[in-house]
Amino acid sequence: MSGARNLNPNSMHQFDSDLTDQVFEYLRERLSMPEVPLDFPGDATSLAGALSGLVKPEGNDPADVLKLYDEVISRAVVSGDSPRFMAFIPTAPTKAALLFDMIVSCASLQGISWLEAAGSISAENQVLRWMADLSGLPESAGGTFVSGGSAANLAALTVARDSGRQRVHGGKRMPVRIALSQQAHSSIGNSLGILDVEPLIVETAGYAMTKSDLERALANDDNSSAPVVGVVATAGTTNAGIIDDLAGISEVARQHEMWFHVDAAYGGAALLALSVRDQFKGIENADSITMDPHKWWFSPFDVAAIIYRDPKLAASVHTQDASYLDVLHEDDSLINPTDLAYHLTRRARGLPLWFSVAVNGTDAYRDAVEASIALTNEVADYIRGHESLELVIEPSLSVVLWRRKGWSAQDYRQLQDRLIESQTAFVTPTSWQGETVGRFAFVHPGTTLEMVKEVFANI
Ligand SMILES: Cc1ncc(COP(=O)(O)O)c(C=O)c1O
Repeated sequence: MSGARNLNPNSMHQFDSDLTDQVFEYLRERLSMPEVPLDFPGDATSLAGALSGLVKPEGNDPADVLKLYDEVISRAVVSGDSPRFMAFIPTAPTKAALLFDMIVSCASLQGISWLEAAGSISAENQVLRWMADLSGLPESAGGTFVSGGSAANLAALTVARDSGRQRVHGGKRMPVRIALSQQAHSSIGNSLGILDVEPLIVETAGYAMTKSDLERALANDDNSSAPVVGVVATAGTTNAGIIDDLAGISEVARQHEMWFHVDAAYGGAALLALSVRDQFKGIENADSITMDPHKWWFSPFDVAAIIYRDPKLAASVHTQDASYLDVLHEDDSLINPTDLAYHLTRRARGLPLWFSVAVNGTDAYRDAVEASIALTNEVADYIRGHESLELVIEPSLSVVLWRRKGWSAQDYRQLQDRLIESQTAFVTPTSWQGETVGRFAFVHPGTTLEMVKEVFANI
């Protein structure tokens, strides 16, 4: 008892105006930067030294910890939202989305069930509806937001597997397979591994998977003990931005009663762009679609949409059964976001997108996506006119694969180091048909042709 009298359990929960001012000042400065610094990858050993002793019983002065964050930690993270970040798939959150993300955190906003969170779920559903409408999915479609495209793909393929098993094996846990091409994102293969589903790899005659590629793969397949119950098409491959023949693949999927999943984690935002919308024909036939707002929909990490044609079916697969949760399922006319993927507790991570779309309007989203597609075309023209450069393939969406004539893999790696050292850009190589090549992915409307020329000034 005597020890308990000395406890002060609320000490870290009290409003501290100094701490609040310091954090808000930092945020205000960061938000007002016309261009955030690119910063550096960092070095694990020196970071460990800087952090040493920080976690201790009596804590630290917040000003010191914030200073350490500002001067050491934050400098050792390459800013994915810098317009000079042209590697992997960057991010470019709007100020409105960033600010609202703070509200989601500050209010501990969750989006688990209608019982607890009708407000946040209604608003999240409003933007999911917008995305579903852009895809041409029916009114009945619906989904939820998960942490990333990998999680969204896993959620969808779980439903594909179980509904396939239901159809071909009466629900028994017997083998089924799912078809995909070599260009499918690595998370698809990982998901199939987790789900214990073998892939049927579809050999493609060209860069995109087509109707005839899939038909040929199915016709040549003689493994009748593990029926092919689904197919994954990609709408914007990560490496090259290529869109599979969604209309043709969906036709074959319908003929064979296969689940049709479209991984549009990166490319889905281009549904907004009239200049390329035609290439997505057939996406409206999808049973499930993955689209990542933290890629090209201008939201902060970490958020991906998984949208199902029939969310009731998805809920029948994903709903967790526990007596303390029964109360969530009393009204079966409403589908809880928690029942649509492998998760239970979830923050209302779709709200930054909702707020930003509501504030900025959908036209601003369209224009920002078109800007990256236009930049891609300008960069392609520049490469065509440069005597030392070549396009590896015609660019698709906002990815450019390029070659510096005569370069080896090591030259591209050294360029990466030079560019980050001089804070010119973050550009990483990739490989294409066994060759190491240069790659840009553009999603930031602040990225300019001049910035790209600065990269090429280093070759
Ligand atoms: C086509 C595609 N699918 C899935 C993913 C995985 O998304 P995440 O990194 O959000 O898990 C990516 C990531 O780049 C992607 O481009």
